[in-house]
Amino acid sequence: MFKTLDDFDLSGKTALVRADLNVPMRDGTVSDATRIERLRPTVDALIGAGAKVVLLSHFGRPKGKRVADMSLAPVAKAVEAVLGRPVTFAEECVGDAAKAAIDAAPMDGIVVLENLRFHAEEEGNDPDFAKALATLGDVYVNDAFSAAHRAHASTHAIAQCLPALAGRNMQAELEALDAALGEPRRPVAAVVGGAKVSTKLDVLNHLVDKVDLLIIGGGMANTFLHAMGKDVGKSLCEKDLADTARQILARADAAGCRIGLPSDVTVAAEFAAGAPSDSVPLDAVQADKMILDIGPQTAEALSAELESCRTLIWNGPMGAFEIPPFDAGTVALAKKAAALTQAGSLTSVAGGGDTVAALAAAGVSEQFTYVSTAGGAFLEWMEGRELPGVAALSA
Ligand code: 3PG
Repeated sequence: MFKTLDDFDLSGKTALVRADLNVPMRDGTVSDATRIERLRPTVDALIGAGAKVVLLSHFGRPKGKRVADMSLAPVAKAVEAVLGRPVTFAEECVGDAAKAAIDAAPMDGIVVLENLRFHAEEEGNDPDFAKALATLGDVYVNDAFSAAHRAHASTHAIAQCLPALAGRNMQAELEALDAALGEPRRPVAAVVGGAKVSTKLDVLNHLVDKVDLLIIGGGMANTFLHAMGKDVGKSLCEKDLADTARQILARADAAGCRIGLPSDVTVAAEFAAGAPSDSVPLDAVQADKMILDIGPQTAEALSAELESCRTLIWNGPMGAFEIPPFDAGTVALAKKAAALTQAGSLTSVAGGGDTVAALAAAGVSEQFTYVSTAGGAFLEWMEGRELPGVAALSA
C-alpha cells in the first residue's frame, strides 16, 4: 500500500509534486487543461496543510537537450490561470536557480520547474539527478498516474530519496482502476477500439482472462472479421495478424469471455467528410468499400448487452469518430454507458489516447464514473503490467 497526503505532517514543508504537465498545445497556448485541472485537489490540500508546492514535470520529448518550444513556461501561465494561484516559473529544474525560485515563492503560491527532460538523466532514472531534485524539497508527492509507466528519475528514483506519497489525482486513478479490474462488480465488459490490433495485442490477451464480455471495434475489428473469413473490402486490416486474432478468439472461448464484434457496419468508398455512406450487413461489404464504423443494429445490440453488465472499461473508439457520420457507433454506445452509469447500474472507467476525445465529442465525459487522462499508462495498466511509478510509491 502507498501513503497519501493524509499520512504525513505537511506543515511548513516543501512538497515536490510530480505532475503531468505534458498537455496539448495549439499556437503556443494550452488547448486542453484537463491535466492541470486534475491537480487542484492535491495543490489545495498541500497549501491548506501549510506546505509549499513545487511542480515537476516533463513536456514533450526533447531527448535530454534544451528545446525552446518544449519549455514549460507557457504551461506555467496556464497553471496560474486554471488553478488561480500565483505561479513562479524557474528556468531550471535543479541547482541554484531552482532553489532560489522556490525560496522566493510565497507559501500560497506554486513553483513550476522547467522541463525535466532537458536533462538526459531524467529518462535515465539517474540516482544522482534524483538526489539533486530531492534536495529541493522535504517530501515527494506523485500525482502523475499518466507518467507512471515511465521509470524515470522523477517518477521512480526520487521515491527512494524522500518520504513518498500519492497525490489525490493518483489516488483517484488507482481507486477507479481497481474498481474496474481489481475486484469489479460482475459481469464486466471491456470496449477496446482503435485502428490497429498490433498496438493492443497485450491488452486483448490480458482482458480475455479478466472480463466477461470483450467488445472489439474500430479498425482492429476488421482484422478479427477477416480472420473469421469475412470479406472486409478495402478496409484497414492487418491481414498478417489473422492467426493472432484467431488465437485471441480461442483464448477468449476457453476463458468463458464472450466477444462482441459487429454484425452490421457503416461503409464508404473513402474516409472523407461528406463521402456517401451506407450501413450494410456484414456479409454485404463490397470490394471497393471500407468499414468506418459499427452499424446501427450492432450499436443497439451492444447497448442492450451493457444493460446486464455492472462494470465497463473503455479504451478506443468504435469507428472513425473524427468525421461524422462515422462517430455514430461510438456516440450511441458511449451515451448508453453514460445513462447506465447515471442510473447507478454501471461503474464505467475510460481512458487512453483517443478515448477521452471520443467521449468528449459524445458529450458524456462527465457522466462516466471515471475518465483517466492517461494514454500509455492506461494501456499498460490494461495489459496487467506493474507501473514503475506506482510500484515506487509502495516500496
Ligand atoms: C503522456 O502524455 O501519455 C505522458 O505524459 C507520457 O508521455 P511520454 O509518452 O512522452 O512518456
